[in-house]
Amino acid sequence: MHSNLSTVSYIGATILFILSLGGLSNPASSRRGNLFGMIGMGIAVLATVFGTHVSAAGIPWIVGAMVLGGAIGVFAARTVQMTQMPELVALMHSLVGLAAALVGFASYLDTSTVFASVAEKSIHEVEIYVGILIGVVTFAGSLIAFGKLNGKIGGKPLLLPARHFLNLILLLVAIGFGYQFLHAETMNAGLVALAVLTVVSILFGIHMVMAIGGADMPVVVSMLNSYSGWAAAATGFMLSNDLLIVVGALVGSSGAILSYIMCRAMNRNFLSVIAGGFGGGAKPAATIGDAAVPQGEVVAITSADTAELLREAKSVIIVPGYGMAVAQAQHTVYEITKTLREKGVNVRFGIHPVAGRMPGHMNVLLAEAKVPYDIVMEMDELNDDFPDTDVTMVIGANDIVNPSAQDDPASPIAGMPVLEVWKAKTSIVMKRSMASGYAGVDNPLFYKDNNRMLFGDAKKMLDEVLVALKS
Ligand code: TAP
Repeated sequence: MHSNLSTVSYIGATILFILSLGGLSNPASSRRGNLFGMIGMGIAVLATVFGTHVSAAGIPWIVGAMVLGGAIGVFAARTVQMTQMPELVALMHSLVGLAAALVGFASYLDTSTVFASVAEKSIHEVEIYVGILIGVVTFAGSLIAFGKLNGKIGGKPLLLPARHFLNLILLLVAIGFGYQFLHAETMNAGLVALAVLTVVSILFGIHMVMAIGGADMPVVVSMLNSYSGWAAAATGFMLSNDLLIVVGALVGSSGAILSYIMCRAMNRNFLSVIAGGFGGGAKPAATIGDAAVPQGEVVAITSADTAELLREAKSVIIVPGYGMAVAQAQHTVYEITKTLREKGVNVRFGIHPVAGRMPGHMNVLLAEAKVPYDIVMEMDELNDDFPDTDVTMVIGANDIVNPSAQDDPASPIAGMPVLEVWKAKTSIVMKRSMASGYAGVDNPLFYKDNNRMLFGDAKKMLDEVLVALKS
């Protein structure tokens, strides 16, 4: 491919990636955003494979790798449960980090590049060193995050004595061997420095994520997403590929912004999350669901009475959470919404930024059920409306509607913004038992006078409510 055509393709792909990110910021335009991203990636891959840097002999290898990687990707995407998505994402990030590190080693071993000056060679070596550092930290950190998310590794933060001092030592070793690497007389000496850097980076990546508690893992995954972007940008520098630099920077910065937004939504200080030791109050995913110590009497309600309350309401707010995803109740929820709207009830959905187990989890499920976007509102858009609402229906949500986040400074979730469902005339919480949610804390909402508990699997109970509503 002529280099001008390759440049034009890269610019086109860059624009498509920016449009893609813009589209993904809103559920209504997210499909289009995905489409832009897919077309942009298609153009980027074709322009690179048929560009000036790849010889004809390399193409069969690349095609073979793409078929194999594509097949694994399609298989993983089709078989993964929605609730396992964060684990899959963590695993994918580890591969980006591994790729950056391998490209670093390959660039160093490739002696074909001719440098115009010593300075240019040094810059290239710094790119390699930094690229391997970020890549290996991302790789090791993401594997630990994967283990923590699927419960194979405990969620409690590992707090070694003098851990900040240990990190400092690792950093100094990395800097010291970086100096040796830049002044290495032979390739072997350089490889020794890179090997030490790899070990140090693995230790740092493991230690960094092990020190972070289960409750902060979502932030860590999005932070590793950001790191994987910077690792890709570093790879772009090593390979002199402008598109990879731009795309890496886009992923790196958008991941950092997402981490910041999630920290705010979970009332965590970004720097404290990275420094580790927080989030230990939560249980690891594997032990969620223990019964919290009950702190009062609850009033149960039947499906028929729930339907009656809904039928008489003028305004209803539905707050979905992780349990709706587990029960796959989104389609029934929408059937109920349609039925109520036909009767003139104002039905809206309140979405908490960290409802479920991944960013946008509820939006994806509601979009799948074809719930119109204009009745799906963010927490901030809706929180003032609860006092004027007749019924709030909480479907498999717990932490995101917990009043102790506001009332109890000692609570592990103190300060986390929550949907104030208890301010409605009546709130109905739909869940199977009195078990706690992700943060492992009791929920005083359940015991409020105006709250009713509809116990059972969300899908089963909503099916019953729908039948009762239609009868
Ligand atoms: P949770 O607080 O985890 O509560 C979910 C509730 O759903 C549980 O108490 C459970 O109670 C109920 N449930 C489970 N299966 C159900 C079923 N089949 N039918 C009915 N109910 C069912 O969820 P949330 O309110 O969505 O809050 C999210 C939490 O996860 C926050 O603490 C957040 O920080 C954390 N987190 C979020 C993310 C992102 S990015 N969204 C990622 C990781 C962690 P029963 O067992 O009694 O049914």
